[in-house]
Amino acid sequence: MMKTLNQEVKIVHEVPDISLLQPVLDKYTGRSREALLPLLHEVQSVIGWLPGDVQTEIGKILNVPLADVHGVIEFYTMFYNEPTARRVIRICEDPACYLANGEAVMQALEAQLGLYHGETNAEGSITYEHVPCLGMCELAPVALDGEKPAGELTAEAVEAFLNGTYPEPNAKVYGSPLLTLARLGQVNPNSLDDYLAHSGYEGLPKAIQLEPEEVIEAVEASGIVGRGGAMFPTGRKWRFTRGAAGSSKHIVVNADESEPGTFKDRCLMEEDPFAVVESATLAGYAVGAENGWIFVRGEYPRSYNRLKAAIEQARAGGYLGKDILGKRGFNFDIEIRKGAGAYICGEETALFEAIEGKRGFPRIKPPFPTTHGLFMQPTAVNNVETLIAALVAFNIGADEWKEYGTEQSPGTKLFCLSGHVAKPGIYEVPFGMSIRELVEFAGGVPGGKAIQGVMMGGAAGAFIGPDQLEMPLTYEDARANNIPLGSGVVMVFDETADLRQALYQLARFFAHESCGKCFPCQLGTQRQLEILDRIAHNGGPKPADRETLLDVGFTMTETSLCGLGQTAAATVMSAIKLWPELVE
Ligand SMILES: Cc1cc2nc3c(=O)[nH]c(=O)nc-3n(C[C@H](O)[C@H](O)[C@H](O)COP(=O)(O)O)c2cc1C
Ligand code: SF4
Ligand code: FES
Repeated sequence: MMKTLNQEVKIVHEVPDISLLQPVLDKYTGRSREALLPLLHEVQSVIGWLPGDVQTEIGKILNVPLADVHGVIEFYTMFYNEPTARRVIRICEDPACYLANGEAVMQALEAQLGLYHGETNAEGSITYEHVPCLGMCELAPVALDGEKPAGELTAEAVEAFLNGTYPEPNAKVYGSPLLTLARLGQVNPNSLDDYLAHSGYEGLPKAIQLEPEEVIEAVEASGIVGRGGAMFPTGRKWRFTRGAAGSSKHIVVNADESEPGTFKDRCLMEEDPFAVVESATLAGYAVGAENGWIFVRGEYPRSYNRLKAAIEQARAGGYLGKDILGKRGFNFDIEIRKGAGAYICGEETALFEAIEGKRGFPRIKPPFPTTHGLFMQPTAVNNVETLIAALVAFNIGADEWKEYGTEQSPGTKLFCLSGHVAKPGIYEVPFGMSIRELVEFAGGVPGGKAIQGVMMGGAAGAFIGPDQLEMPLTYEDARANNIPLGSGVVMVFDETADLRQALYQLARFFAHESCGKCFPCQLGTQRQLEILDRIAHNGGPKPADRETLLDVGFTMTETSLCGLGQTAAATVMSAIKLWPELVE
């Protein structure tokens, strides 16, 4: 965005009163490097940023070299080593919000704040940022004021948003049958008693009557595969982890949901946090793991706070800790960790690095997490939806679960509907519904407009055209048609949408999120962005663009080290195939 506001913005350089930090620093004394991210978060919550001498102190307390403390702060976008206000206002700059007229909200915010992206006001009380998808796409356009989320913003609502009177949004839940989503909107997410009154903790007591192997068999029988994108059979992952050598094992709940267009895990965590706790505990029992971890993305404060409270209540109620529910020797507890703005930390090995207090660089696989995961110990890492689906399927039994869906894709699946649909929201439907039926279930395209394309699976997924809408939403059809279901994103672009702008936004996302560990992705995402930025905003396509984009895309896909680089060109290449005129 061009800067046109003629305003002098003074950055506050005074180093804050570091003595305020003493209680926080004392609390962490004696801890090790794995406490680095929580400590950085806590320090920032007191003084807003991380001055050099505070970094030195943190390094001493946790016994981490100063260069490493600095490296971690540099890596994560939500850690600041320059003067930053404690109150940060973040507005989403990604496609769903753009389609919902997010630019007008941005402009209104900027006019009222007198700030542009990355600036702090003269008093040092507000910092303003454009950020990638905030995982609230069904509520687009969205923003966060500190920890307070706001959805369906308009330019007129900006004043109320800034003065704190704009109401917080709730999840928009649809579908049939509601199995995984049964409690959303029905249960008080802050109350263990209410969870119990809504069939909570029915599955875990049943599980502990069985041998752990029998629980694994039941999950295998339900045919559940991972909902985080890789579609690995969940029961098999638990079996491998259970069978791995080593007495200290881990369940890691991947709640880093940062894929543009994805918001299902946020809805589950915010509205049904005890189900996350119960399902992770069930996994712990099955795997023989005593350590549970939930890694929640930093931009999900409401999820984090509700999960934290749920863990505490579950512990007090005897649902976590030692000899759980009176079962001798069944010990399991959960630590919750907050990410700090890095999509790559959703990649399972990068996530382990983050929990271990390091930069979120993916590890080379093999070895795989089931034998060498968190702290190089056996680990089952699962997506939030996967765990809750496994709990539900276990609870109702594989036969009932398989009454829904198809033989190869049994049960139900959550889809994140956003963009040009009348009723954006989280949808639970049996596998097998066609994309067209799902879009119609979501009210179709507003104003009776035609569909130009649909982004399936997420930013790392693929665009499809109107002639592919009949595809049934199953894993087998997705594989056969080379259309990834990914994290369940279905983002609709009507005939008026500017797809060049959408491709630019997707390219910007990947260039921003590439961790830089390997060259194909580090350079390829930049090159892809440069070309798509010029095409969208600065002169249009040049003759070699199509070939260069395909070449860069092919190289990233084939030679990148991890899934981010391997998929960073996927949506762009699918769009070029469908609509070559976009880049010619
Ligand atoms: C760049 C990247 C980002 C990812 N982000 C997430 C995420 O936010 N949530 C998630 O569950 N899986 C994510 N994954 C997939 C995980 O690596 C892993 O496959 C998943 O957590 C396993 O859980 P599941 O078997 O239940 O799907 C990501 C993968 C990549 C390559
Ligand atoms: S592919 Fe990209 S995100 Fe993955 S390791 Fe390489 S640079 Fe990092
Ligand atoms: S919240 Fe804006 S695109 Fe997802």
